[in-house]
Amino acid sequence: MNSIFLIGFMGSGKSTIGRQLAERLALEFIDTDHQIEIQAKKKIKTIFAEEGEEAFRNLEHQVLIDTPNQGYVIATGGGIIEREENRTWLTNKHVVYLKTNWETIKKRLANDDSRPIWHDQSRNKQDLLMQREVKYAQVASQIIETDKLTEEAIIEQIISLFV
Ligand code: S3P
Repeated sequence: MNSIFLIGFMGSGKSTIGRQLAERLALEFIDTDHQIEIQAKKKIKTIFAEEGEEAFRNLEHQVLIDTPNQGYVIATGGGIIEREENRTWLTNKHVVYLKTNWETIKKRLANDDSRPIWHDQSRNKQDLLMQREVKYAQVASQIIETDKLTEEAIIEQIISLFV
C-alpha cells in the first residue's frame, strides 16, 4: 500500500493519529521530526537555537524525500508545506490534511515547551495558521476537519479513504 502522509498545523494530532493509524493498518510509522532529531542527534529546539530555522528546513526536506513510498504512515512537521519543493514532492501522494481550528490548537499547545515556532514571540501564530491553511489544502488529497471528531473517528475516516 502507498504510504500515507499526515499534514497539518502544530497540535493537529498528526503524530498521535499517525501512530494509531499505522498500528490499525499494520504499517510502519515515521514521524519526520523524530527522524530529524535522530539524524542531527539534537532536539528540534536545539537545532533552531544553534543553527536556525533554515538549517532545520534543510534537514526536514531531506528526511521527507527519503521517506518510503510504500508501507508507511508518515507524520510530518507543521511547517513541511512551507517549501515549494516539499509541496511539489507531496503532490499526487496520499496526503491527509488534519484540519484543526485555532481554538483547539491553542488549548492543546497551552503547556508545550518543545516547539520553537510556537514560542517565537515575533510571529503571529494565528496568522501563520491562516497562511498555511492554503498550502495544506493545496497538497492534500483529503481534508479531515478534526475538531469535533474523536481520534477513533478520524482514524476510521482515513481508513475508509484508502483501504
Ligand atoms: C514546526 C512544527 C513542528 C516541528 C518544528 C517546526 C512548524 O512539528 O517540525 O518545531 O514550523 O510548524 P509539529 O507540527 O509536529 O509540532
